[in-house]
Amino acid sequence: MKDHLEEFLDLSQDPFDVFRVWYSEAQKTEEIPSAMALSTVGVDGNPNIRFVLLKDFDRNGLTFYTNYKSVKGREIERISFVAVAFWWNSIKKQVKIRGSVYKISPEESEVYFHSRPREAQIAAWASEQSAPIESYAELLRRFEMFRKQFENKDVPRPPHWGGYRILPQEFEFLVYTQVRLHKRVLFERQDESLWRKIYLCP
Ligand SMILES: Cc1cc2nc3c(=O)[nH]c(=O)nc-3n(C[C@H](O)[C@H](O)[C@H](O)COP(=O)(O)O)c2cc1C
Repeated sequence: MKDHLEEFLDLSQDPFDVFRVWYSEAQKTEEIPSAMALSTVGVDGNPNIRFVLLKDFDRNGLTFYTNYKSVKGREIERISFVAVAFWWNSIKKQVKIRGSVYKISPEESEVYFHSRPREAQIAAWASEQSAPIESYAELLRRFEMFRKQFENKDVPRPPHWGGYRILPQEFEFLVYTQVRLHKRVLFERQDESLWRKIYLCP
């Protein structure tokens, strides 16, 4: 039997609307609905992947935050095209998005950085993301060092920490079914606001 999310997928011509409706349903039932597997092309030409958190979403794209000097940051610098996938087990839905990716403005990163808990702000200074470190204790030592350095002060945003926005070129929605006749619907961008909708074999 179709649920209202599947019904909406069948009726809609706009993948942003479908994503918004599905995501808001996932937010009611999933512990971390914003977790998305982010795939990049490695500097060796092979695929790479890790989870990041979706922080913001509208027609301009999907925003996540990270360290620009991390492995993913360097990979995006080289090939500014990524894929992300969500799996929401509680509603048995998968969403895949592919698109170009760009850095958001420093001002926008600034606003988000200062909305974060103080510990997370200090951690952004302490962690040279993806760089080797002698031990976990060394990471804690660095955290403590920056905590002291910023005592009684605002923690500034590290210049290498900020947001990326993914501008979708295609969305694929999958309704998972027990009988393995999953419903897959691909939306391909034709221009700014026109999408081609295609049903795919599972
Ligand atoms: C659920 C979850 C959410 C995460 N969210 C983020 C995130 O929003 N930004 C981030 O930089 N790393 C996040 N991480 C850590 C990344 O998965 C990854 O380990 C880190 O960014 C380094 O990746 P890289 O070496 O490929 O650049 C998250 C990990 C998990 C398990």
